[in-house]
Amino acid sequence: MSARRPVRARAYTSIANLGYGFDVFGLCVDAGSDVVEVLQETTGIELTVDGPHAGGIPVDSGANTAGVAAIALMTHHGITDGVRLRITKGIRCGSGTGSSAASAAAAVTAVDAFFALGCSREQLVRFAAEGERASAGAAHADNVAAAVFGGLTICDARGRESVGVTHLTPPADLRVVIALPEIKIATSVARAALPEGVPMADYSAGCARCAMIVAALMRGDIAAFGRAVEGSFVDRVRGALIPGFEAVRKGAKAAGAAGVTISGAGPAVAAIMGVDGDPEGVARAMRAGFSQAGVESDIHIAGVADGAAVLEMDA
Ligand code: HSE
Repeated sequence: MSARRPVRARAYTSIANLGYGFDVFGLCVDAGSDVVEVLQETTGIELTVDGPHAGGIPVDSGANTAGVAAIALMTHHGITDGVRLRITKGIRCGSGTGSSAASAAAAVTAVDAFFALGCSREQLVRFAAEGERASAGAAHADNVAAAVFGGLTICDARGRESVGVTHLTPPADLRVVIALPEIKIATSVARAALPEGVPMADYSAGCARCAMIVAALMRGDIAAFGRAVEGSFVDRVRGALIPGFEAVRKGAKAAGAAGVTISGAGPAVAAIMGVDGDPEGVARAMRAGFSQAGVESDIHIAGVADGAAVLEMDA
């Protein structure tokens, strides 16, 4: 059998939830990316991890989100060939910016191209979500949907066999200022902090805010989008896990952000605004908010990113 040519794919960071849209919305933004290269191997699934955020990432393919996603895709197609996954981690894990999802999305995109499987993007989301099960204990698909499709995604998890994804293109002048404090919160811990059920008043408010998010994005109204991501019980509960969250939120709003929410499971905090505002001023205010709580932070000013894609081999 002739050797297959290596394939490399990149996937970007994402902000899941957007307030009330827990496990539903994902917004793909360029605040870093992971790259996964697939190469032929004699047998089994081998894995290597390097890059600036490789520390602590498992190299056992059964425990690594990219490995688990690749195995799910290959098993579904009855593929028993050996492969090596070479992961370059450009996204910090445990930050709430879809680090595991980006690895899984890049892995399934690269494996799909390597074996010329021709999977749809919805199919890739389903396999990538299996990677999330390995890292978060639940196959939530909001980050992987955004990482696979790019732009904004609305995820309708219909059980293990299928995930419906609706894709929207957000306004090009949308900016998200993301503050990543130097602490980690495991997604499993942030999920366990949430209540089993919600009061009807919260359910009703959540339906309204989610509808407002979609309407605002469809008419390009960034101010309304920002208002709609705020006030969720998810942020109220999880905000208590993030030192300085209230100061960061208030500082960003005072500096002109249209709205502020926890990015995914946190601890990253995301401020929504237009490019015509003062993203640098918002960034300074968010950094100062974390500093007051004695926490250093990295700041990214990000625009909307495209979905996972195969790279030219010399890129
Ligand atoms: N929807 C998931 C959660 C996203 O909030 O737990 C994790 O990044």
